[in-house]
Amino acid sequence: MAKQKTLPYETPDLLTLTGDSRTILPTLAAESIQCCVTSPPYWGLRDYDHPAQIGAESSPDLYVASLVEIFREVRRVLRQDGTLWLNVGDGYARNGGTGNCGPNAVVGNTRKLIQKRNCKVPEVWGLKDRDLMGLPWRVAFALQADGWILRSKITWIKKTAMPESVKNRPTNATEEVFLFAKSPSYFYDPQGVREPTGANLRNYWILGPDPSNYGHPAAFPRELARRCILLGSRPGDCVLDPFGGCGTTGLAASEVNRKAVLIELNPEYVAMRSLLPVPGERKTRAKSANS
Ligand SMILES: C[S@@+](CC[C@H](N)C(=O)[O-])C[C@H]1O[C@@H](n2cnc3c(N)ncnc32)[C@H](O)[C@@H]1O
Repeated sequence: MAKQKTLPYETPDLLTLTGDSRTILPTLAAESIQCCVTSPPYWGLRDYDHPAQIGAESSPDLYVASLVEIFREVRRVLRQDGTLWLNVGDGYARNGGTGNCGPNAVVGNTRKLIQKRNCKVPEVWGLKDRDLMGLPWRVAFALQADGWILRSKITWIKKTAMPESVKNRPTNATEEVFLFAKSPSYFYDPQGVREPTGANLRNYWILGPDPSNYGHPAAFPRELARRCILLGSRPGDCVLDPFGGCGTTGLAASEVNRKAVLIELNPEYVAMRSLLPVPGERKTRAKSANS
């Protein structure tokens, strides 16, 4: 039998599963994960080029329903004291033109779902042309109604925001990260990350983009994942990302000695992980260079 090729991102502590989270999550053992750190596709924005992609639902209420279904499975695989750290972005309901600025804009050759659906205002929630949809909070309230305990809203303030040449509103430069708990008594390590003064960490994080995301169009900063992992788990615990992208959560987990399970639909993004530095390898190299 041919020996299976072992890629650098397939270590005993970092498992990458390629496929739809809706079919893979039910195969994971109940209560096997300490915390989930993730960022699903935003509704109607990027085209991840797969028929099973989340975010391509015809209406934003169906998107919210898809996420509730996925995170219900995440709740099952979380330990009783587990947490979910969820980064979700917003968008505008627009009628017509994509223009060359704002979240609906045609930017370079980025394929955008919103352009495919011809920017029709969705017939839901009384949305009107130009309405900010409030999707992060709609998702948060739907998850709350489904049984999650919503414990915090962290504002990620972007040091480098996406340029928008809008003249009728301020430029968007923040996103939400929600902290949800499975049960009222959950693991949170307040010493995991502190303010520079030593005070308890505040709920706004000013973070710049990583120098390289290895070509993934929507990778989040490694520092964002690192903070969630340090606050939400202990060394040796297992972290899950059901929308793994190029593996930022997995890399951050390995760097702080956590195990990780990543699920990603698009094999092209899974392959990008072979470009990411392998934490163990880098440490060994650094050690031998010093000795
Ligand atoms: C916002 S990106 C996540 C980026 C990731 N945080 C990173 O830093 O690389 C969302 C990812 O979800 C993937 N995705 C979309 N639908 C999915 C599904 N049904 N199951 C698993 N992954 C999916 C997309 O291919 C995309 O890579």
